[in-house]
Amino acid sequence: MDAPPAIGHKPDTVFHAIRGLMSADFLPVVRTVAELRAQVRAWRAAGETVAMTPTMGALHAGHLSLVQLAKARAGKVVASIFVNPTQFGPNEDFDRYPRNEAGDAELLASAGCDLLYAPDVSQIYPPGFSTRITISGVSEPLDGAARPGHFDGVATVVAKLLNQAQPDLAVFGEKDYQQLQLIRRLVLDLDLPVEIIGAPTARAPDGLALSSRNAYLTPEQRIIAGRLNGVLADAAARLKAGDPVEKVEATGRAALERQGFERIDYFEVRHAQDLSHPGPGVLSVPARVLAAAFLGKTRLIDNMAV
Ligand code: PAJ
Repeated sequence: MDAPPAIGHKPDTVFHAIRGLMSADFLPVVRTVAELRAQVRAWRAAGETVAMTPTMGALHAGHLSLVQLAKARAGKVVASIFVNPTQFGPNEDFDRYPRNEAGDAELLASAGCDLLYAPDVSQIYPPGFSTRITISGVSEPLDGAARPGHFDGVATVVAKLLNQAQPDLAVFGEKDYQQLQLIRRLVLDLDLPVEIIGAPTARAPDGLALSSRNAYLTPEQRIIAGRLNGVLADAAARLKAGDPVEKVEATGRAALERQGFERIDYFEVRHAQDLSHPGPGVLSVPARVLAAAFLGKTRLIDNMAV
């Protein structure tokens, strides 16, 4: 397929593109499944492998690290931007979630992305849409318990995005560790022909995991936020040294409170694959420590390998 023309070239054309004002980087944009599949098909016919990096936009260096990892593993990278309404609770930030497609497109192009899929809502949820994917087990504890329905929305939209693009591989961040594990489960259970790759968490110099929601923090809250990672690292070190699970969890929760976190949703040690509880006492399975805590209305999550 020919390279899509630049935006404004032909307003009614199938393809659009956004060109960065400050750079020569150029990123084609498609908004329908048909356009997306046509491009992926053309790449595959030319012998390319295709990677996908699904996002909700408001991109930062963490998202771009996924694109870079994808580009290192595949010839072509398609990123998607879709602020998925079904994964937000009624009192969450769907309406105020930051949206800046032109700025995001520039960043994606600079990271080596080849195509932006920014679907119209009708491409994801056409009239009469009635399907919901619920993954039991791995998506039930932690964020699944704290945010009812959230992971159904994630699983449903990710299944759709992967089926729409049909990439060879897809990259998701360990930052959202439970999400990554339930996507692995989804792909296994539904025989989706895609390899799922987990990418390490990109962090600010003080250890805070980069997140679009960090922008909501006041300067005082931002300082406290940087301490979450240290508390998780301490817990992982204690577990490695043989401290019992329940003691490490209690110590971690107390440390977060002492550091100024206002409400702690969870601070838990979990099995690294299925996120089941490893049981009390000294760890005998591969594990992950995961935490979620509030500063004001902003909910921060982070996790660490043991
Ligand atoms: P979003 O929050 O935009 O994140 C998109 C991807 O970027 C996810 O795979 C997430 O884990 C990853 N990511 C976010 N912050 C990161 C960081 N600091 N370091 C590395 N990776 C990071 O997660 C979602 O969107 C949505 O739930 C989605 C999967 C797109 C489905 O709607």
